[in-house]
Amino acid sequence: MTETHEIDSAQLEAYLEFLVAAGFDCCLDDAPVDRFTVSAEVARQPASVASAMPSDFREPEQPRGRTVSVPNRPPEDFDAHKAAQTILQRQKQISDQAGSSVAPIGSGAVVPDAQAVSSAREMASKAGSLDELRAILADFHGCNLRLTAKNLVFGDGNPNARVMFVGEAPGRDEDLQGVPFVGRSGQLLNRMLAAAGMERSSVYIANVVPWRPPGNRAPTPQETEICRPFIQQQIELVNPDFVVFLGAASAKTLSGASEGIRRLRGRWISYASPVRERRAMATFHPAYLLRSPLEKRYSWRDLLALREALADK
Ligand code: URA
Repeated sequence: MTETHEIDSAQLEAYLEFLVAAGFDCCLDDAPVDRFTVSAEVARQPASVASAMPSDFREPEQPRGRTVSVPNRPPEDFDAHKAAQTILQRQKQISDQAGSSVAPIGSGAVVPDAQAVSSAREMASKAGSLDELRAILADFHGCNLRLTAKNLVFGDGNPNARVMFVGEAPGRDEDLQGVPFVGRSGQLLNRMLAAAGMERSSVYIANVVPWRPPGNRAPTPQETEICRPFIQQQIELVNPDFVVFLGAASAKTLSGASEGIRRLRGRWISYASPVRERRAMATFHPAYLLRSPLEKRYSWRDLLALREALADK
């Protein structure tokens, strides 16, 4: 028998607020799933079903009445990185033993480390075209963000553009559509470009990190470092004359600047690669402008400076 609970609208609203605060911001299934009913059904399954689980995943049975003492802190010489590697190796052994049809817990997750960064560099440098780079990224397993994202958000616009805009990382709408800057901040960016006489379809737009971080959190420094070689190669392949960093995160990652966005924005800096040097400028991120509309005047100035530079060259 399924129990039903009456919930009044205030309770429902409070619950929705709780979910939003906890980072839930979209529905992934058409119908809600009652996890309490599902777990009650699993508990009622016969023992034979439970015993199909590989034994390494089950807790060893403890004799009744015996207490188990669990240390409340790791030993002095505990090495978290080594422990994570050991767990991943063990998971791989388990899945190899169980056959390829059974995936290990956390299947596909990697420990972000220097190895992932150097493999990203090596793989990115192999791309001779944007299509190749997209295919390489789609097959790159060194960044765990791909496990929680719905889509790879590669790039959009004119692949021969003279101007390339680079944001930080996709949000919810971008993740759902697989296209950068299509949500509210993307719409503002489109309007700003149009006002400055630049159609979105005439420029190229991408992000430093091509997968949405869960709940729109900021990418970690490791995630950014792993993804950096790909955006650097994307810039080489588009080969724009001008690069515009949307927000401090993109500017700092790609130009190496350490100043805040207020100091950095609005002046020409250099974006140098082994191939060529380009003029670059940082400007406020459109998401920031949505929160602080008075700052739009500075972004307007930045776009006018860009338009002037485009006309000069
Ligand atoms: N913010 C970004 O930095 N990139 C997007 O694609 C969308 C929002």
